[in-house]
Amino acid sequence: MFSTVALALLVLFALYALKIYTQFARNLAAAKNSGIPYVIVPFYQSNRFWLLAQIIVEPVVRKLRISSWFDLSFIEWGWHMRYEPFKRFGTDTFLTVSPERNQLYTADADVISQITTRRNDFPKPLEVYESIKIYGNNVVTSEGQLWRHHRKITSPPFSEKNNHLVWTETLELCQAMVNRWFDGDTGKTESKTIFTLADDAMRLSLYVISRAGFGVHLQWPGTEGDHRNGHVKTEEESTAKSPEIAQGHTMSYTDALGSLLHNTLWVLLVPRFLLKHLPFQTTKQAYLAFIEWGKYMDEMFQEKKAAILKGEEGDTLDLMIALVKGAGTTKESSTGKEPPIQTLTDQEIIGNAFIFILAGHETTANSIHFCLVFLAMNIAAQRHLQADLDEIFKGRPVNESDYEAIVPKLFGSMAGAVLNEELRLVAPVVSIPKSTTKDSPQNIEIGGKTCTVPADCYIVLMTAAVHRNPNHWPTGPPENPEKPTHPLSNLDNDLEEFKPERWILDSEAKSTASMPNQETDMEASHLGVNTAADTSAALYRPPKGAYIPFSEGYRSCIGRRFAQVEILAVLAFIFSQYSVELTVDAYASDEEVEKMDDQAKFEIWNKARDEVNRQMNEDMGSIITLQLRKGAVGLRFVKRGKERFDFNTK
Ligand code: HEM
Ligand SMILES: *[C@@H]1O[C@H](CO)[C@@H](O)[C@H](O)[C@H]1NC(C)=O
Repeated sequence: MFSTVALALLVLFALYALKIYTQFARNLAAAKNSGIPYVIVPFYQSNRFWLLAQIIVEPVVRKLRISSWFDLSFIEWGWHMRYEPFKRFGTDTFLTVSPERNQLYTADADVISQITTRRNDFPKPLEVYESIKIYGNNVVTSEGQLWRHHRKITSPPFSEKNNHLVWTETLELCQAMVNRWFDGDTGKTESKTIFTLADDAMRLSLYVISRAGFGVHLQWPGTEGDHRNGHVKTEEESTAKSPEIAQGHTMSYTDALGSLLHNTLWVLLVPRFLLKHLPFQTTKQAYLAFIEWGKYMDEMFQEKKAAILKGEEGDTLDLMIALVKGAGTTKESSTGKEPPIQTLTDQEIIGNAFIFILAGHETTANSIHFCLVFLAMNIAAQRHLQADLDEIFKGRPVNESDYEAIVPKLFGSMAGAVLNEELRLVAPVVSIPKSTTKDSPQNIEIGGKTCTVPADCYIVLMTAAVHRNPNHWPTGPPENPEKPTHPLSNLDNDLEEFKPERWILDSEAKSTASMPNQETDMEASHLGVNTAADTSAALYRPPKGAYIPFSEGYRSCIGRRFAQVEILAVLAFIFSQYSVELTVDAYASDEEVEKMDDQAKFEIWNKARDEVNRQMNEDMGSIITLQLRKGAVGLRFVKRGKERFDFNTK
């Protein structure tokens, strides 16, 4: 009996081993035929079991500094190792071969640009996006005809009119945020240390998207309009979603959305029917938030639809109104007999609305957060930014300046350079997935040679690496070769360093700078795909494919300008009035700092800077987007002219 079972197990095992071996042999043969350099790795990085095992294995491996063979099986190697493996292998594109599936990694601008241009040959691997369909199909999670359909309807709402709204709303919310920090006393208080910046940036970007996206006015906690203070609503504020629980709901709008985003992973990963019945507090909360927010969105959608039908939507143009209109939801049919033609279902409209929040909220918030952190670490760059802002605003309050005139100037100034440089170093989307389909290998030019990407290959455009590829970016010597910014990558140049000045062209280069590459691609413009370059004409233009924080080509970010305008507004608002400094509380008290000479101040400031640099290397991780996963960076906001650390740091 026992021996029969043992024998059966043995046979099963042998069959399994044979299957793994055959798969591996097939994958290896494809890699050999591809003409692309390859390395063999033990695991496919997204294998389900390996994904779980990595959570335990990766920190241990990193701590013990065991390297090479294992490294490239970790899903986060792109962030942690950056350009190093490409340099080690001496190639900007390589394959990894594992028993499960071949992968192609590329940090080569030209290869990236071929892949993003040929959208039918290199589609998105849809299985990766399956989980974010929680409220229905949408523009991020679809491909082919379905994607074209979604994109055509979802892109017109992202208009300059809406961006103007983003600008105004961001400035108003910035004011509320700063008022709150300074306890409403922005006049007298000269400085304030903030440890909640990451959370505040999240709140800010969430409120901006709520307002510009859905016309929902959320009040910054502790501000006048906060109904918890017993403040009576003014007419204007009555559109504000109060923290109260609306009729027919068990959660307030704010709590539902907050909880939904906080517990996104549960909702994304656990099947809905299971989530509903799991006995844990977190999963119950996650399920409730999912239901409640969906209900709020649905009500809002119905309200807007009704308002448009009555012609009562006014001249506000939030994304939702534009989406509802664009989808033909409110059109009468021509004869009045057949049902009106609706191009997106109600469910799809809500699916897209959710995706706008998911795609636009964390990404933008983290960019704001890290812009401020980098500027605190780089005093000279901060002063340069402030000088440019003074030149642009000439003493006028930022919120009273003309949007159309100001924004292009900001894009072309140090503010645009800071934005570009922050997204170069900490692009929220660390790697962009593409694929080849089963049975369809694809030819591609690599360094002038025609190679073949194998069929069923998982392709990763390595954002963090191509942004630091010395073959594509002008470089200088590292700031301090003894103390590299990153322990592995680009040890012999300055590409790991935050240097917004690298984007500023001298006046001669400026006059010869090429115009934005405005491709007259009819299909692209029809789908609202912005083919113009990512950066202002007044700034350095990296080669096509070398700078992809918003991806590139057809599937590039729909909210690019939305995000850029929001970040520029925050930079303009804060740095026209304040300076931002690293906190040194861990090393000296305020009184001690007061008594220090410049040398002593420089020393503790440097300690603080080293610590923040360590956090940025070691404590970051990308669950949905790249952000600090533990701890926080404390920053001190001081009125301009009251700085404590004001030496030239270069
Ligand atoms: C700094 C901020 C942002 C960054 C770095 C960013 C980055 C990206 C990237 C890399 C992609 C391509 C993703 C992929 O191929 O899987 C993408 C797509 C997208 N983003 Fe953004 N994004 C930002 C802000 C926003 C905002 C504010 C919105 C909306 C309000 C938004 C909406 C979208 C949508 C709808 C897509 C899918 C487009 C399509 O597939 O046709 N993003 N974004
Ligand atoms: C600009 O901001 C100040 C301070 O919050 C406010 O008093 C003023 O009304 C704002 N101006 C405009 C045009 O919104």
